[in-house]
Amino acid sequence: MADSYTDAIAKLKADHDKTEALFAKAEDASPQDVRKIGVQVCNLVKIHMTLEEEYFYPALRGKAEADDDKLTEGLVEHDSGKVLINDLLSGDNDDDTFGPKLQVLGEQMEHHHKEEEEPGKGVFWQAREAGLDLVAMLDQMLAREAELKAELKAGDLPDAELLYVDAGKTS
Ligand SMILES: [Fe+2]
Ligand SMILES: [Fe+2]
Repeated sequence: MADSYTDAIAKLKADHDKTEALFAKAEDASPQDVRKIGVQVCNLVKIHMTLEEEYFYPALRGKAEADDDKLTEGLVEHDSGKVLINDLLSGDNDDDTFGPKLQVLGEQMEHHHKEEEEPGKGVFWQAREAGLDLVAMLDQMLAREAELKAELKAGDLPDAELLYVDAGKTS
């Protein structure tokens, strides 16, 4: 593994940057490449969200320095993105819908990353204020990421699970 990070936030921020570069690349790509990049970026975001949901967000929840509503808002944004991710990875989209849906996902993620990274307010800032052990968290995240990547390679990575949003609700 060539990547080395100072702590969990550095790793999460690197994921954000990698993700945004891929969304930008997809904008000018051929339909075939849009699909290839799209699948890659959806899986990357899916794994990133899992790491945040299993380690980062729960560690902050209930801490005096944390804003619980802001945490929930972030997780609702995850759910919103996961609806599109599961749809994009379903293989049910033709070229006319895959690209536009990917574009919307990219816009949502850019907004979400900005909020997580927001100085003096976002969850990354809150985690530093709360004095979380972000070095220990990095080790946990990297171990879990290796598992998830192995599942992905084996074709066993399940659909992203929605935590707050019931996507099947019609009324
Ligand atoms: Fe997130
Ligand atoms: Fe994130």
